[in-house]
Amino acid sequence: MPSVFHRPFSRPVRFETPDTSSESGKPILSYDLLCLHNFQRKDPDEDISLDNLDLIQSFTHYDDERWFVIIHVAIEAAAGPAVNACPVAQQAVIDDEPELLQETLDTIARSIIDVTDIMEQMTEGNDTSVFANEYRPYYDGFDEIYFEGVDELEGTPQTLRGGSGAQSSILPSIDATLGIKHDATEMTEKLGDMRSYMPPLHRSTIETLDSGPDIVEYVTEQDRDDLWETYNRCVSNLEEFRDVHFGQVIQYIREETGDTEGTGGTDYMSYLRKMEEETRESRVSENL
Ligand code: HEM
Repeated sequence: MPSVFHRPFSRPVRFETPDTSSESGKPILSYDLLCLHNFQRKDPDEDISLDNLDLIQSFTHYDDERWFVIIHVAIEAAAGPAVNACPVAQQAVIDDEPELLQETLDTIARSIIDVTDIMEQMTEGNDTSVFANEYRPYYDGFDEIYFEGVDELEGTPQTLRGGSGAQSSILPSIDATLGIKHDATEMTEKLGDMRSYMPPLHRSTIETLDSGPDIVEYVTEQDRDDLWETYNRCVSNLEEFRDVHFGQVIQYIREETGDTEGTGGTDYMSYLRKMEEETRESRVSENL
């Protein structure tokens, strides 16, 4: 059954009902629609790589937009080994298999480096001004939208977040597996809400990983230098990813718009920095 938005458009626009637009069920362009379901391989017989990726749909004709999206797609592919290794690492802790844990942590550490290498290429094909002024506005969310004709919402205005890498399951999965904790802040609250924009399987995978074993305790209990060194390599590589990401937030948002606050007044600069610091502090000490 079609429904109608009556803000912020000047005239009513018809949209699909909330449960048909994306896997998450949110009637907005979420990350899965923008990136995970919006790419094709130029050569179907070749692997996913920046050279072999193209978009299916874009808002503009700018190649910068294509580059921005395919960077995310290539990152998701490069993170595959890490995300696949997460449940294996937790099972290794449960089964008391330090050798297997060592191998899977090594896989996670290497995979994060590949992810960061791709992230660093963002600036090669995505001009900061084109990003800020030409196509990013199309990814924005909406505040206070009324869905007429959707009885379940009982006329309550809805806020919908725009598509963002913060809706990717990569970092929450790795944080959960490595036991990296973030203090509750406005940002973590927002990121918690971002999970409702993920495909259900991604969401439930993160929830399962969140309730997994305490890997830090296990690593510190083992009398194995290689284990804590590899664990710390994972943490350092993740910190490095967050650092590179933070640099891009400065370049693409703060330097372009002068803005340090996201939608809803969240001071994302200091909160992102805090998450990076919390990552660094998760390193285990060799003297434990
Ligand atoms: C031009 C490049 C990018 C910019 C300007 C950018 C901007 C932001 C901003 C402002 C936030 C804070 C949350 C919010 O307000 O929505 C954020 C969070 C986040 N972004 Fe990005 N982002 C970029 C690229 C990426 C890429 C390629 C990924 C990879 C998947 C990514 C993953 C994340 C994650 C996981 C968070 C949550 C914070 C964390 O876990 O550290 N971002 N980003």
